[in-house]
Amino acid sequence: MVAPTDYPYSIQGGDKPRPYIKQNKIMTQPLNRTHLETLLKQEEQLFHKNHPKSFELYQRARKSLHGGVPMLWMIRWAGSFPIFAKEAKGAHFTDVDGNSYIDFCLGDTGAMTGHAPEATVKAITEQIQKGITLMLPFEDVIWVGEELQRRFKLPYWQFALTATDANRFALRMARHITGRPKILVFNYCYHGSVDETFITMDEEGTPMSRPNNMGPQIDPRETSKVIEFNDIGALETALSARDVAAVLAEPVMTNIGIIHPKPGYHDALRELTRKYGTYLIIDETHTISTGPGGYTASHGLQPDFLTLGKPLAGGVPAAIYGFTEEVSQAFTAKLSVEDSDVGGIGGTLAGNALSIAAMKATLQNVLTEEFYTKAIALQTF
Ligand SMILES: Cc1ncc(COP(=O)(O)O)c(C=O)c1O
Repeated sequence: MVAPTDYPYSIQGGDKPRPYIKQNKIMTQPLNRTHLETLLKQEEQLFHKNHPKSFELYQRARKSLHGGVPMLWMIRWAGSFPIFAKEAKGAHFTDVDGNSYIDFCLGDTGAMTGHAPEATVKAITEQIQKGITLMLPFEDVIWVGEELQRRFKLPYWQFALTATDANRFALRMARHITGRPKILVFNYCYHGSVDETFITMDEEGTPMSRPNNMGPQIDPRETSKVIEFNDIGALETALSARDVAAVLAEPVMTNIGIIHPKPGYHDALRELTRKYGTYLIIDETHTISTGPGGYTASHGLQPDFLTLGKPLAGGVPAAIYGFTEEVSQAFTAKLSVEDSDVGGIGGTLAGNALSIAAMKATLQNVLTEEFYTKAIALQTF
């Protein structure tokens, strides 16, 4: 078995001492990189031996797919080539070589409730016979809107296909209403491929584009401000210029390890955003794991907008954004439906019948109170 020779990624770094923690002390000791290289090679050979069919498919895929994968980040998973999946059910999947896995990734929460939940599969199988996308509302969309109202206590809802888009549309609405150019995000947040969010700080705290940010449309310093989560002083300074349309925040940061809010932080965030006329968008895409109404319902948050995607339709592309009565009225007041260029908030397939059927079935039968009771009990020890 020959390992691929032109695999584009290799072990980075020289023999610089790397810090590690021992008995609560930070120690430095040079890593034995030669030994590491040997171990990695052994693992790669074993990986190759156990995944011959995946390797074969990868070779074929490289002739038609850039990098041999549908999305470039898939090549960055561990192993010298990607595993090709065959099928998935519940918490398990199998690959094309017949290896079976417990899936701790679960589609990065897209399959949070397990792969192919029965109720969702049944609903989409039925809906698919009756039409997939029409650019017209289906009655079930009202059921979904009413259910979202009940869970998140926000009166109005709109649909998108991805959480990225839900965030982008909420940001557009916030900018449209306030007329303000900037948004504020937390350092190393992730809200999907929303251009404005790829901003960080250098060691002196000066904002800069995230290193290796691929092809930013515009320097994110022109569109965004960035501060550390939990820093109330920095929040007030950033908002006090009154040029920030919205703060886009996960209620708990989940994409840079997990950073919980300090006690009182959410109160301060709400108070200061109100004080300076900035909208607060809470992105529940991952924190929906907290409960049926996400972190927002379980901790009594009061966002102006709430966004959510990924697990909402059991893995079928679907996302939502909801907002308050005040937002709805302010937006309507600033809108002339006949004259507006509404193309920037949209998506031809958004709210399609298949997504709506999947959302309804998932909310009704999968992401239920009982599911959360069971799932949370399993995580508590
Ligand atoms: C908090 C959060 N919001 C939004 C997104 C974007 O989701 P999508 O890639 O489905 O647009 C992600 C993706 O990981 C996320 O973690």
